[in-house]
Amino acid sequence: MGIQVKNIFFTYQKKATNATQALADVSLEIKDNDFLAIVGETGSGKSTLAQMFNALLVPDKGDVLVNDYVINYKNRKSRKLRGLRQRVGLVFQFPEYQLFEETVEKDVAFGVKNFGVKAEEAIERAHVALKQVGLDESYFKRAPFDLSGGEKRKVAIAGILAINPDILVFDEPTAGFDPQSSKDLMNLITELHNNGKTIIIITHDMDLVNTYTKRVVMLERGQVTFDGTPNELFAYIKGYDRLDTPSVIKVAEKLKEKGMGININEIHNNNDLVEAIKKWRNKA
Ligand SMILES: Nc1ncnc2c1ncn2[C@@H]1O[C@H](COP(=O)(O)OP(=O)(O)OP(=O)(O)O)[C@@H](O)[C@H]1O
Ligand SMILES: [Mg+2]
Repeated sequence: MGIQVKNIFFTYQKKATNATQALADVSLEIKDNDFLAIVGETGSGKSTLAQMFNALLVPDKGDVLVNDYVINYKNRKSRKLRGLRQRVGLVFQFPEYQLFEETVEKDVAFGVKNFGVKAEEAIERAHVALKQVGLDESYFKRAPFDLSGGEKRKVAIAGILAINPDILVFDEPTAGFDPQSSKDLMNLITELHNNGKTIIIITHDMDLVNTYTKRVVMLERGQVTFDGTPNELFAYIKGYDRLDTPSVIKVAEKLKEKGMGININEIHNNNDLVEAIKKWRNKA
C-alpha cells in the first residue's frame, strides 16, 4: 500500500498572530513496499507530515491519498478515516507519553482491541509483538510507567506492530537507544520491509539512512527540497551544518579527492570501504 501527497499546506494555530506554517505545498509519492527516510533540520515539518499519513492531522489545503482513503479538509470529520489507522501505523516521536494502561501487555493489546479483536487474541498478539521488540515475559505484567525511556519506546512500537498495519511510520525510532537496541530495531524494521510492509522513517541519524534506506526525502521549512538516494543526499548536503554526512562517506570522499578511484555510490559501511580500497589497489 502506498501514499500520495498532493500539494498539501498546513499551518498551526491559524488564528493566532504567531501562526506557524509547517507544510507549504508538499507533494510526494510513496510506493507500495518503499523504504523511505525523511530528514531535515529541527522544525522543518517532518513530524507534521508524518501525522498526515494516518489523518491525525488533516491538511488545510491539498490531499493525501492512501489507497481509497482521501485525507483532506473536506473529509476531516469522516468516520471512514478511523479505519485508516489500522492500515497506517504511526509510532510518535515521543511515544512514551502515550502509555496509560496498568501493565505492558494491556497497553500493547489496547490498540488491537480497538479494532475489534477479542481480548484473548489481543493479548496473544501483544506477547508476540513484545518479543519482536526484545521485551520478554518478564516485562508483560510490569507497569509501563516504571520502565526506562528506551523500554517505553519499545512498548509503544510493539503497540503498533500488534495492529499489523500495511504502512509503518516511525518518527525518530532510535533516538536515545543504545547501539545494540538501535541495530535490533532496524533489523526488525528491515524484516518487516522484506515481508512486504511499506516503511517510512523520520530520523536525524544519517548512518541509519546510509545503512538501511534506499530513498531519502529532505524537508526544509515545510517544503520538499530533495528526493533521491542516500549518496545523492550526502553530496547535496555538503556544507549544511545541521545535517551530517556519515563518517565513512566523508573518509571515502577524502580518499577519492586524493586520487583513489573508488565509487562513492557503493559505500554504505566500513566493509564496503575496505572492499573498494582493495579493488582499487588490485587494479593499480
Ligand atoms: N502543536 C504545535 N503548535 C504550534 N506549532 C507547532 C506545533 N507542532 C509543531 N509546530 C511548529 O511547526 C513546525 C514544524 O514542526 P515539526 O514538529 O513538524 O518539525 P520536525 O521536523 O518534526 O522537527 P524535529 O526534528 O525537532 O522533530 C515548527 O516550526 C514547529 O515549531
Ligand atoms: Mg519531529
